[in-house]
Amino acid sequence: MTPIVQTVNLSQRFGDTVALDDLNLQIPAGAVYGFIGPNGAGKTTTMRILTTLLPPTVGDAFIAGHSVRKEPEAVRRMVGFMPDYFGVYETMRVWEYLDFFGHLYGIQQPRRTALIDELLELVDLTVKRESYVMNLSRGMKQRLSLARTMTHDPKLLILDEPASGLDPRARIELRELLRELRRMGKTIMISSHILTELAEMCTHIGIIEQGRLLASGDVATIMAELRPHKLLEIHVLAQASAAVELLNRYPGVASAVIDDDEEALPLGPDGGTLLVNFTGDNQQLSALLAQLIASSIPIIHFAERRSDLEEVFLQVTKGAVA
Ligand SMILES: Nc1ncnc2c1ncn2[C@@H]1O[C@H](COP(=O)(O)OP(=O)(O)O)[C@@H](O)[C@H]1O
Ligand SMILES: [Mg+2]
Repeated sequence: MTPIVQTVNLSQRFGDTVALDDLNLQIPAGAVYGFIGPNGAGKTTTMRILTTLLPPTVGDAFIAGHSVRKEPEAVRRMVGFMPDYFGVYETMRVWEYLDFFGHLYGIQQPRRTALIDELLELVDLTVKRESYVMNLSRGMKQRLSLARTMTHDPKLLILDEPASGLDPRARIELRELLRELRRMGKTIMISSHILTELAEMCTHIGIIEQGRLLASGDVATIMAELRPHKLLEIHVLAQASAAVELLNRYPGVASAVIDDDEEALPLGPDGGTLLVNFTGDNQQLSALLAQLIASSIPIIHFAERRSDLEEVFLQVTKGAVA
């Protein structure tokens, strides 16, 4: 299937600054793609190119197959962009703000009024319809801005750092809203310089640093690529040292140790948590468990310890941050 976003050898220079360096990224339709990287990495530049606001120095980008260079009109119809600043519409009322953009997109009455109501409902601002934009909280302004990007019903939403500066409650509301948009069939590209802001809401991630894409793909694949070993966590009620000895002789076990972390579960004398670096396949894994049980090791927990995205992020960007 054609990805909804594809960049081909995308590069961008500003004078001597290389903002993007041969960027090749793809986003499948329906994804929530977290675009993560430190300040100055090139996130906003990429998004401005994808939304036709900035022509690339080298390369091209395609939205559902349409070139940002050759078919900017077609691209704009498909994309909604929420920039990282709000703009200067503070003295408008909430409904006027949406009316203004509806007008720009050529949406006629009576459809426009109905659309404003639908959008306000969607972003939960119906009660603020008559309020002035300047009197909204930051979270509300973000939601209004998101409603604006939906005016022309785009397939793809590109949101530049929407969670920055939001308090935890506003962030949760934003996350709920993105879920709703995804259910509506939208593809969402969302940037952040803080991984944890995005971790739970993304299906895919791209990590960018100094204009280069360090990793990109679905979350599970990226994790598997970056950590080919499984880390097993086994709790035993007793015979921890015997179990470690047995494990270390087992094929597929790279290493097995007793977890001496003070926070590890207190499991009695010679009980404890074993950490096993396992390189074998699933067949060997189940045989390993059978072997432990056959050796009368009293196991109460046997599971793969999942590494989280944050750990993966640190690993990928190790040392590359200037
Ligand atoms: N209009 C511009 N003129 C000159 N340099 C720019 C311009 N826009 C961005 N840059 C530079 O390009 C690099 C990438 O910036 P940007 O895309 O804004 O990064 P991010 O959004 O990831 O923080 C930075 O070094 C930035 O200073
Ligand atoms: Mg930016």
